[in-house]
Amino acid sequence: MDTSKFLLTCALLCTVTEVLSNVLDDYTKTDGAYSVNTAAVEVRCSVWTGKDLIDLRPLIHTTGSYLATDKDNENSPDFYINICQPLNPIPGVLCPPGAAVCMNPDKGQPIDIGRITSQSTPEYNSNTGNVEMVFQSTTPCSQNTSLNYTSKVIFSCQSGTDLGTPQMIRQQQCLYVFEWATPVVCPEILTTSGCSLHVSQLQYTFNLTSLSGLVQVPASSYKINVCDSIPDSACNNSAVCQMDGASGVSFGHSKAMSLDYKRQDQTVIMTYAGGDPCPPVTDKGDMCVFPSQYLKKTLTECTTEGMTEQRLWCPITSDWNKDHQWGNCATESTKRQSTILFTCNRTAGRGSPELLSETKGCSSTFRWITSAVCTPKKMECQLVSLHKTYDLRTLSSLTEPWKFSSGTDQ
Ligand SMILES: *[C@@H]1O[C@H](CO)[C@@H](O)[C@H](O)[C@H]1NC(C)=O
Ligand SMILES: *[C@@H]1O[C@H](CO)[C@@H](O)[C@H](O)[C@H]1NC(C)=O
Ligand SMILES: *[C@@H]1O[C@H](CO)[C@@H](O)[C@H](O)[C@H]1NC(C)=O
Ligand SMILES: *[C@@H]1O[C@H](CO)[C@@H](O)[C@H](O)[C@H]1NC(C)=O
Ligand SMILES: *[C@@H]1O[C@H](CO)[C@@H](O)[C@H](O)[C@H]1NC(C)=O
Repeated sequence: MDTSKFLLTCALLCTVTEVLSNVLDDYTKTDGAYSVNTAAVEVRCSVWTGKDLIDLRPLIHTTGSYLATDKDNENSPDFYINICQPLNPIPGVLCPPGAAVCMNPDKGQPIDIGRITSQSTPEYNSNTGNVEMVFQSTTPCSQNTSLNYTSKVIFSCQSGTDLGTPQMIRQQQCLYVFEWATPVVCPEILTTSGCSLHVSQLQYTFNLTSLSGLVQVPASSYKINVCDSIPDSACNNSAVCQMDGASGVSFGHSKAMSLDYKRQDQTVIMTYAGGDPCPPVTDKGDMCVFPSQYLKKTLTECTTEGMTEQRLWCPITSDWNKDHQWGNCATESTKRQSTILFTCNRTAGRGSPELLSETKGCSSTFRWITSAVCTPKKMECQLVSLHKTYDLRTLSSLTEPWKFSSGTDQ
């Protein structure tokens, strides 16, 4: 691969990664897997399917718990479940501390039937396409005292914006099996049509058309018109253009647009390629500096001047005579491109883009906080809890559930 191209590509990717990691929260990220720190053990909360990374963190209950019952059994005990971290205290139900799966029978004390151990990491079953998680407990099983109770949660794919809840499906001796139909484990299929992006897993279409229209990026010389092109003739059909007086440099052609969605960051990523050629760089990735003094001349482009072989070179400071800093010009020139990261803020309205970074005059990255990419509230509510934990535990009654009554007591 051509070095300059590689470096430029890397620079762009690194910028995006960096930006995204700033958006990311305090969950530890190791080897591309997402882990959660619990007081006792750190467990991986994601699984690699061989094609995608499935991240189960959106399903973690940070403040409450999931309630599961056996629909076919009228006298089913209540099961309280959390994944990747132990249950939060449940008002009125005294589950053993540290349990992640707790069974509360009609009569008797709640018992621990599953904990987070180093083995409770999600596993992908390639035959069924399901993800499974096993929770061992330290509670001896009444049916066979040589065993402890164990719980298993099977996550199956069900598209939609509802994250689903677990159901108790069967008990096999000392093993309790739950099924959880959820979009989180569905393979993700993205379909772009014009300026909209359909995400199969969410069964939701992001439509960015409402954001089109010329905007000046504050504190920069960039103009942007997403889903359309900039009317200024200096910008020649670009969607992102850097203006310098009457002249413009294209940072991406309006037709060379692609859309992507990063579930972990809840970010819609729009990329424009095919802008004007990038400024020349050396084969080591340094930017050529023009104009630059070379002997008695002023250089304004790569030159073979002074070279015995006919190789193009350029100075990398503005005065070669003083600094003697130079490099061979990269032979293949890439085209300018830009990336816009859209994130949701319900109260931001249309919002406006801001420049996050510009790399070697060749690729620029913007962030645009807008209500146009907000997903339906039902989904948002649980996903947002990932990034911001609103701890309502202090509000929960420790003795019994709150009772609500209408204005007049009866
Ligand atoms: C069951 O849990 C106890 C701790 O309460 C532990 O000592 C024992 O090894 C466990 N048994 C099995 C079969 O895992
Ligand atoms: C109890 O579990 C052990 C280990 O799985 C098994 O070997 C034994 O047969 C079981 N006993 C009964 C009564 O099911
Ligand atoms: C996106 O919105 C525009 C207008 O707001 C509409 O014309 C277009 O059909 C929408 N596209 C999709 C795929 O829904
Ligand atoms: C505008 O772009 C077209 C191709 O998209 C190119 O052929 C033409 O030279 C460009 N014009 C200017 C003034 O840059
Ligand atoms: C959302 O936007 C509003 C108004 O622009 C701002 O006050 C608020 O801080 C933003 N919220 C977040 C979470 O960024």
